[in-house]
Amino acid sequence: MSKELNRKCILSIKPYVPGKPVEEVERELGISNVIKLASNENPLGPSPKAVQAMCDIADKVSVYPDGNCYYLKNALSEHLGVTPDNLIVGNGSDEVIKLIAEAFLEEGEEAIVADPTFSEYDFAIKIMGGRTVVVPTKNLTHDLAAMADAVTDKTKLLFICNPNNPTGTIVGKRETDEFLASIPPGVITVFDEAYYEYVTDGDYPQTLEYVHQGKDVIVLRTFSKIFGLAGLRVGYGVARPELISLISRVKEPFNVNMMAQSAALASLDDLDHVIRSRALNEEGKEYLTKEFNRLGLPFISTQANFIWVQINADCRKVFSKMLRRGVIVRTGDIFGAPDVIRVTIGTAEQNRRFIEVLEGVLAEE
Ligand SMILES: Cc1ncc(COP(=O)(O)O)c(C=O)c1O
Repeated sequence: MSKELNRKCILSIKPYVPGKPVEEVERELGISNVIKLASNENPLGPSPKAVQAMCDIADKVSVYPDGNCYYLKNALSEHLGVTPDNLIVGNGSDEVIKLIAEAFLEEGEEAIVADPTFSEYDFAIKIMGGRTVVVPTKNLTHDLAAMADAVTDKTKLLFICNPNNPTGTIVGKRETDEFLASIPPGVITVFDEAYYEYVTDGDYPQTLEYVHQGKDVIVLRTFSKIFGLAGLRVGYGVARPELISLISRVKEPFNVNMMAQSAALASLDDLDHVIRSRALNEEGKEYLTKEFNRLGLPFISTQANFIWVQINADCRKVFSKMLRRGVIVRTGDIFGAPDVIRVTIGTAEQNRRFIEVLEGVLAEE
């Protein structure tokens, strides 16, 4: 009998379904002017300062980047009120999620995630041969009490996506405090705050305080969303230095490229861009929620830059029809909700086009 080539655990990994790129849709359907509201990117693009920084560094790329991200870590420490040894920078926060699993999860150990939530946690857990323990959300919000109850002596990691992708919901401060107080030693809680800068709810927990208190907490943030640098891949984790040092052991030496480091650094110097982006998001949120109400479509009030909306029709059919009319959204079926779409809040013009196309398609259903 021939020997298995692959590690067993990789067969349980569900392939990631990325948002369709604009160019691919235009090429395949022979159309132009396609808009993508599927991957929660910033419709304003990157800060002009980040673009300039990339141009300035373009002729330096013959040498390796700084593997320690010295300048970026220093700027981030100032921005966040932490020290550089509290930080790990990754090729997107996706990479940091994987590094966390690589550093902490032994084969057969458990990691707890919500459902629905961001799929990268399950990917990282499975790659390490860990077991994903899924805890359903309550009213599409993380059920922290049930997640705490799911902890066993095999649990190593807990992932809390806050705001949650795909629902846009958050968990509040008091419940998070209570939850952390109930988690036994030896379990690391990861707060994925990819959409942190979009949150407007005053009850949002400031999780860096848990890091300052020395808790086994890792906070993840990214430059891919409000900072508009998704194509460069820069994200980071914040934790106590001992955890950072363990995660750093499994990091590739030059994981964050030079352009990415310089653009991220320049972005931190242009917080006006963040303010403008947040304001645009708020306007878009208001417009879209008004329109969803007009169309009688139930939606979840969002704390991020996307909205989970129930379309009362088959999401795959609606997706395909919208695609042919040049609007790319995300279908809810990949999150177990076949009558839902998730739409990224775009510019005023993109939002208007999205509503017009959605309304037209739903009228045909
Ligand atoms: C909740 C969440 N975490 C992490 C990521 C990945 O971000 P990055 O581009 O930093 O890898 C995403 C991207 O969609 C996300 O939605």
